[in-house]
Amino acid sequence: MEGQNKNLSVVILAAGKGKRMKSNVPKVLHEICGQPLLKYVLDAVGALGAGEVALVIGNGADDVEQIIGDGYRYVHQAEQKGTGHAAMVALGEMDPSFSEVLVLPGDTPLITAETLDRLLVERRSATAAAAMLTTVLEDPTGYGRVCRDERQAVSRIVEEVDATAEERAITEVNACTYAFDRAGLDASLKTLTTDNAQGEYYLTAVVERFTGGGQEVVAVLGTTGEALGVNDREQLAEVGRIMRARINSALMTGGVTIVDPENTYIDYGVEIGHDSVVMPLVFITGATAIGEGCHIGPCATINDSDVGNGCDIRFSSVDGCSLAEGVNVGPFSRLRPGCELGPDSKAGSFVEMKKTVVGKGSKVPHLSYMGDATIGEDSNVGAGSITCNYDGGEKHATTIGDRAFIGSDTMLVAPVNVGDDAVTGAGSVISEDVPDRALGIERTEQKNVLDYKKKKSK
Ligand code: UD1
Ligand code: CA
Repeated sequence: MEGQNKNLSVVILAAGKGKRMKSNVPKVLHEICGQPLLKYVLDAVGALGAGEVALVIGNGADDVEQIIGDGYRYVHQAEQKGTGHAAMVALGEMDPSFSEVLVLPGDTPLITAETLDRLLVERRSATAAAAMLTTVLEDPTGYGRVCRDERQAVSRIVEEVDATAEERAITEVNACTYAFDRAGLDASLKTLTTDNAQGEYYLTAVVERFTGGGQEVVAVLGTTGEALGVNDREQLAEVGRIMRARINSALMTGGVTIVDPENTYIDYGVEIGHDSVVMPLVFITGATAIGEGCHIGPCATINDSDVGNGCDIRFSSVDGCSLAEGVNVGPFSRLRPGCELGPDSKAGSFVEMKKTVVGKGSKVPHLSYMGDATIGEDSNVGAGSITCNYDGGEKHATTIGDRAFIGSDTMLVAPVNVGDDAVTGAGSVISEDVPDRALGIERTEQKNVLDYKKKKSK
């Protein structure tokens, strides 16, 4: 949905502290599925094509501005005197010629552009003063309740702390997401008082101002999830769970097999090609793109990486790497940032790599450490081989040519180069370059002590 609402001002409320989070991090910056709560709200709002978008910030304002970045108008609400006050402060800095205002909180990440659009459309078609998003919750604790009159029209919203026992039993709650007519909103905000249990200017109170004055407020019923606000860590986990299910469901719709979606953790924005299979206990995070026909997991973490078509990654960790097509990783390997694995290459079992380039068809099948290394094409690194890249002070590079054969348990003391078609003898400590086609071997000749057992027992 890409809309155009040039006469629309959007106000996102994000100045609160989020006391119940018990955190040094401002609430809207807490993350689910790899991105701050507030970013989801901004993504939904972004699709509306609004004339202007303002973020009301206060607690942790510097952090919010820094993490969310440019492209928005930041309005500072120095003292948080309530949601109504936040709206007043924001509108004071926004273009008064825009005819509509959308207000929503920064802590409801499940909101969608479609629902916001519905609010705008329904208010216009009813020529109502406001349209508000509501939802029915089995447990409405903590939310403002939607009171309706005998005709079932919305009459007012009452906050839990101000509600009677009877009102608390209402399960339809306010999502704090509203479309307003600008002039009507301006007028009613002026009449707000702090005459309530929290001593705040409640934005919810404008509803009663409208209905009391004979104007209509339409309620738009959203899905349960959309209205869920994050106020504490339990709700953060719950909303994260719903977002995860949404992400997995979209990937499955796109042709990805997710064997056990409830135990698969994929961040927002991750791309996976069709016919890839994701096994349980896989975490795919950050800016990661995975190709078609891959087999991922079980038990793998892949972060900030590009994975080509037809790769196979099992019981392994891949972070900040780029894998071409047909690469095989694991089980039990760790690819650290800066690795580039060429087509059909392999980092087999118990292999650690860091800042290492592995050429097409080259294999590091078992128990090796390759750091700051460049390996050419079709080379084989024998079991237990290590690049000794660190001399205690600095890191040094190792290069291995094409079609080289590194014997098992070779220690490559960097900086060192092994040429094309070169071989190193098993167990060698290679500290000098090995020319093309040469054998580099460094070990003492074997001496056999005959009748050793007999001698020893004497
Ligand atoms: C609010 C609504 C409640 C609704 C609920 C939905 C009011 C009075 N209550 O309650 O009816 O069911 O949201 O989630 O509006 N904020 C500011 N400045 C302030 C106060 C709040 O920017 O001075 C921001 C907060 O950062 C937050 C949002 O407004 O993002 C909502 O505030 P919060 O304190 O979470 O309100 P609730 O008690 O959840
Ligand atoms: Ca809230």
